[in-house]
Amino acid sequence: MSKKRIGVVTGGGDCPGLNAVIRAVVKASDLRGWEVLGILGGYEGILPPGNYRELDYRAVGGLLARGGTILGTANRGRFSAKVGHGEGRTLPTELLEETKQGMEQLGLSGLVSIGGDGSLSIAQQMYEYGIPVVGVPKTIDNDLDGTLMTFGFDSAVACATDALDRLHTTAESHNRVMVLEVMGRYAGWIALYAGVAGGADVILIPEVPFSYDSIVAKIQQREQRGRRFSIVIVAEGAREKGADFVTASAQPTGGEARLGGIGEVVAAEIGKRTGKDTRACVLGHLQRGGSPTTFDRALCSIFGAEAVERIAAGDFGKMVAYQGSQVTAIPIRDAVGKLKTVRPDGSMARAARALGVCMGDSAH
Ligand code: F6P
Repeated sequence: MSKKRIGVVTGGGDCPGLNAVIRAVVKASDLRGWEVLGILGGYEGILPPGNYRELDYRAVGGLLARGGTILGTANRGRFSAKVGHGEGRTLPTELLEETKQGMEQLGLSGLVSIGGDGSLSIAQQMYEYGIPVVGVPKTIDNDLDGTLMTFGFDSAVACATDALDRLHTTAESHNRVMVLEVMGRYAGWIALYAGVAGGADVILIPEVPFSYDSIVAKIQQREQRGRRFSIVIVAEGAREKGADFVTASAQPTGGEARLGGIGEVVAAEIGKRTGKDTRACVLGHLQRGGSPTTFDRALCSIFGAEAVERIAAGDFGKMVAYQGSQVTAIPIRDAVGKLKTVRPDGSMARAARALGVCMGDSAH
């Protein structure tokens, strides 16, 4: 009898921990005597004739701490799940049929799809079309519903916090205002958590439209109390009350809009209104690169092991989910299609305000 064979694929933007999940899937499968094919370049690699590599025990040596994905990934192309500002896209039936045929030709009796909201909405469509898939929640943005945390988020927050620590020393030396722009699309999780962990004075997130009056009042308050520098962290999707998103000058055709540039806009306005020397710094893809944190390595290992258990149980159409002390699995359809955004009255936002942080709608 031939061995059971499963596939593993990484989709959407990369983030620290993808390789750690791949490693966990391969190790857990190896112990069961299964074969694993790593699908290359995102979902397109499933399509006939197939673009893949065999992943055995030795192929995943040293992967736990390695950033990126050895399989490559894609957030554009035929499987792109979103257009504009996060509107979902339905895959044509012919593409789903081709994918199903690809799975059959590769002899895959299950697929572990590691992705964010976009890739997992595609996974849900595949599942509804009869493709046996299990999802693993990935994204630095932490905006997937049904899981307290996605992997990659903790690593991105650690990177952004380190950046704030560095900006603090230079801001203080020059009595400047430093503005750090971070990613997160339409959710402010990275800005909020890094802002609190890195002691930012102003935290601007998409969920709380801001006014320059409140930011300027905070900076002036600090000046009066002898703090002649200030640190602002701004999520790429944050916007002034009544204003539109700030987007990058080069936009992809037919895909999701590229955000970016709000840091410069905010810095210019603060400089103009306060007369203070103000600089912007864009953290960009640094927050998606490098080794996963300890927490993410552990989370990825649990997620990978759990995904293999779900495949063994034939429990398809599920996404493994972190729910505090337990990792469980929920229907993929319950996790996708609606973003998990920051609650402005949630614990972390309230803590920030309690510590005097300006959230952009009042001086503190
Ligand atoms: O969704 C992850 C993410 O890093 C967002 O935070 C960011 O807006 C986007 O991807 C950037 O995508 P790209 O790498 O295609 O510029």
